[in-house]
Amino acid sequence: MRLLFVRGRRRRVERWGGALYEGGMAARRSSKNHATTREEVPVDRVVVPERVPDEDRYDRAFRPQSLDEYIGQSQHKENLRVFVEAAKRRGEPLDHVLLFGPPGLGKTTLAFILAREMGVQVHLTSGPALEHKGALAGLLTKLEQNDVLFIDEIHRLQPTVEETLYPAIEDFQIEIVTGEGMYASSIQIPLKPFTLIGATTRKARLTGPLQSRFGTILRLEYYSLEELSQIVMRSAGLLGVPIDEEGARAIAARSRGTPRIANRVLRRVRDFAEVKGQGKIDAAIATMTCEALRIDRFGLDDLDRQLLRTLIEVYDGGPTGVETLAATLSEPRDTLEDVVEPYLLQQGFLARTPRGRMATRRAYEHLGLRPPRAIPEVGEAPRLFEHEG
Ligand code: ADE
Repeated sequence: MRLLFVRGRRRRVERWGGALYEGGMAARRSSKNHATTREEVPVDRVVVPERVPDEDRYDRAFRPQSLDEYIGQSQHKENLRVFVEAAKRRGEPLDHVLLFGPPGLGKTTLAFILAREMGVQVHLTSGPALEHKGALAGLLTKLEQNDVLFIDEIHRLQPTVEETLYPAIEDFQIEIVTGEGMYASSIQIPLKPFTLIGATTRKARLTGPLQSRFGTILRLEYYSLEELSQIVMRSAGLLGVPIDEEGARAIAARSRGTPRIANRVLRRVRDFAEVKGQGKIDAAIATMTCEALRIDRFGLDDLDRQLLRTLIEVYDGGPTGVETLAATLSEPRDTLEDVVEPYLLQQGFLARTPRGRMATRRAYEHLGLRPPRAIPEVGEAPRLFEHEG
């Protein structure tokens, strides 16, 4: 990793997979750590969709380089292909893009791919890392024609920084105020046309004015079993570990529709295959690994089951407010909302009602508990996978 000291200032700029990361990896890590949620995500959970420490290098190794290599999110992919082609023909930057959805589904990967498809450089930063207007201005004035500026966790921008961003993305200029009081004056600095790609797990926390400035807003969806199996096969190929299709499916089925989790489980299964097996991944070794890691056949781990059990046994199945649940489980509310609940909701184990969270019949059955007769049939989302065994 190369450290560049730009314009004599001791600003850390690190190269990261062909991109420039402003503030360096330390800032990248600390930006995660700022979050009330992120620093408290238990790192011993295998099925957390957030990056765990030191995982960046694997994310990079597995990262597809082009839209052709990218598996899943097909409709978005086809639309993006058209937008890229049109922008290139016009010699303009891609319209600003907002990517949202649960963590681990490939928002950063897509930003890299879009920059690569456009033939431009991507500059990475995050909402919390942009601590003041000057930091953003420094970044914006460095962008070359049509470059991509990727802001992760864009919902966490400071209001003053966000306001600086508006004229930058709308008119490609920023206003710099010099002097104070009656001596204050402002100058407009023109910027080279660029594309802002914002990523967030919390679209609802974005202000209206910011949302309305994105030309393209894409919601990333959980991956199907088929897509996730293909991703596992591809990653196993990159790792050089032999795997059969049933092995890939067994890993995919327990990975919560999330490529980052699938790739992490794959690495653990490889360990088991090498130590307890013959080095080849099949369904038996994949299942054995997941059982050892206490990931069940639906991809739920101890914390998921604990949440459902608490809801059922302590609160009679709900409805219960998320704050109450968070306090009972000693987990930050944001961890429950961002990391634990989305998959439980999507899989129909949990229902969100105006009065709070409720366990569904499926949750009772999964835990081997008898549902009360009057349990409402709410929130039965379509199942992602038909699981075997
Ligand atoms: N690795 C992680 N995500 C991927 C994706 N969507 N396609 C291919 N490989 C991946």
